[in-house]
Amino acid sequence: MLNLPAPPRHLPEFGHDALVVCDNLVRIYQSASVEVQALQGLDLLVQEGEMIALVGASGSGKSTLLNVLAGVDSPTAGRARVAGHDLVDLSRRERVRYRRHVVGFVRSRPRATSCRT
Ligand SMILES: Nc1ncnc2c1ncn2[C@@H]1O[C@H](COP(=O)(O)OP(=O)(O)OP(=O)(O)O)[C@@H](O)[C@H]1O
Ligand SMILES: [Mg+2]
Repeated sequence: MLNLPAPPRHLPEFGHDALVVCDNLVRIYQSASVEVQALQGLDLLVQEGEMIALVGASGSGKSTLLNVLAGVDSPTAGRARVAGHDLVDLSRRERVRYRRHVVGFVRSRPRATSCRT
């Protein structure tokens, strides 16, 4: 008979101490005839104070990911959490609060501001 060590009673969940956690994140855009899988099971951990750059080819899902993390868009499946806020289960009211108080999002399109400056 094998004498194996007892398994640990409690394993911390993936990214439990990270500021940003994406776990198997999926975003599918569905129109009448076409399905686009913009995010196909993305895993990402960002720690507090860490600075990262999101780099990828056009259409690889950068804006999709930022929209999800900013609370502008909802993932189709998987988990996304920012500063303790679970972005999958946010109610409409919580989403507005999150966007007002937790994450700010400045878009890079120059036209969005040129008429006001
Ligand atoms: N609202 C939408 N409806 C349908 N498909 C979409 C929508 N938004 C994005 N997509 C598709 O999802 C994929 C990822 O797009 P996304 O805009 O996230 O890419 P990106 O990496 O930001 O590209 P770029 O570098 O050109 O800004 C692309 O195939 C895009 O056509
Ligand atoms: Mg983009």
